[in-house]
Amino acid sequence: MQSAQQTILRDAMRLLNLTRDALTERLGVSRRALDSWLLPDNSNEHRSMPTIVERFLAEILSQDTKVAPAHHVSTANWAPHLLSVEQFSRESVEELFRIADIMQPVARRQKTCRVLEGAVLANLFFEASTRTRISFGAAFCRLGGSVCDTTGFTFSSMAKGESIYDTSRVVSGYADVIVVRHPEQGAVAEFAEASNIPIINGGDGPGEHPTQALLDLYTMEREFSRLNKLIDGSHIALVGDLKHGRAAHSLAKLLGLYQGLKITLLAPTGLEMPASILDAASRNGNVIECTDNLASGLAGADVIYATRVQKERMQGEVMEGYGENFQINLRAVDTFCKPDVIVMHPLPRDSRPGANDLSTDLNQDPRLAIFRQTDNGVPVRMAIFAKLLGVDQQIQHSLRDISWVHPQKLGPNDASFDEL
Ligand code: NCD
Repeated sequence: MQSAQQTILRDAMRLLNLTRDALTERLGVSRRALDSWLLPDNSNEHRSMPTIVERFLAEILSQDTKVAPAHHVSTANWAPHLLSVEQFSRESVEELFRIADIMQPVARRQKTCRVLEGAVLANLFFEASTRTRISFGAAFCRLGGSVCDTTGFTFSSMAKGESIYDTSRVVSGYADVIVVRHPEQGAVAEFAEASNIPIINGGDGPGEHPTQALLDLYTMEREFSRLNKLIDGSHIALVGDLKHGRAAHSLAKLLGLYQGLKITLLAPTGLEMPASILDAASRNGNVIECTDNLASGLAGADVIYATRVQKERMQGEVMEGYGENFQINLRAVDTFCKPDVIVMHPLPRDSRPGANDLSTDLNQDPRLAIFRQTDNGVPVRMAIFAKLLGVDQQIQHSLRDISWVHPQKLGPNDASFDEL
């Protein structure tokens, strides 16, 4: 089976670093035509890309000698374990996103895939989790595998004093891949030292959360494609507890792989981003701005990436300055931001009164991308499993139509533009 046209087009835009408008110009087609080729197969507006255009696109790609196709570039640097975004190059990120694009029809319940039939995932979550644990499990199941898990220390033998080494080696005998979340920074790397099967960092204390950052970046890329923008040259505002937020740490480091960015770090005094992460983010000459002024910090931003205050990680820190004036809500977005800003958050958001986390008053607003972001967790984590377990080349051939009924829109407030 040929690669879906959406995957071919998205991959071409990535490899050539072109917006949709720029690609239509290179191809000599209308933007409307390109948009219709990029829509999912089951959309009413979907059209097939003519073979002549596909051939022309292949020619452009082969002529552009400066651009090496990402899938021909070695990506061994992030295997066998996935512990940190520091293992990634721009090419390996782009290759992963290409595989995630191929996974989209499976994640969206248009196709099934059984490339991991018989494989077992062990989910070891020693800290609270909803989306990371479930989306890793769902991603593995949708590839045909099965999931075993344990949650919290109370229900694992660690409560009896078992070491990380013993736990990791024991579970390695039962599973083919292990996802670990642990409250201590560095603990997941310790699990990896005791195992030859792939260990994935599902969040290690205030350290890193690499798979969250990858799905965040993938979400930005997809949202930007719709808005005719590129990640290179964009303005990203990270807001909130940037001291303890591991998702923000991994994301800031990943952004350092891109060029010409303005990264605004909006945190109240005491919750600022650690200096070592600023260094990684400012690679490639990216401009970093640190402020606690929401009005000036959000001005001109293409993305607001809000985060939760990580009270559970605080040891006597005072949170002065994290008042109502720090909340991302409809008024702040309307007053301070460009009309095409997108609002993201790794979630969970603290919706209790006084938390001043991302407000629910943006729930009906198409600029709010948080549920498109959580949806993207599945294809990105499927792509990670496929790469780590070496089945990424088999996916295309293993896709089958689904046989059950599912709704077109997953949530009642989902924006109607969806793919566009
Ligand atoms: C984050 C985490 O656990 O680091 N959530 C997530 O995995 N999506 C953010 C948080 O807990 O605030």
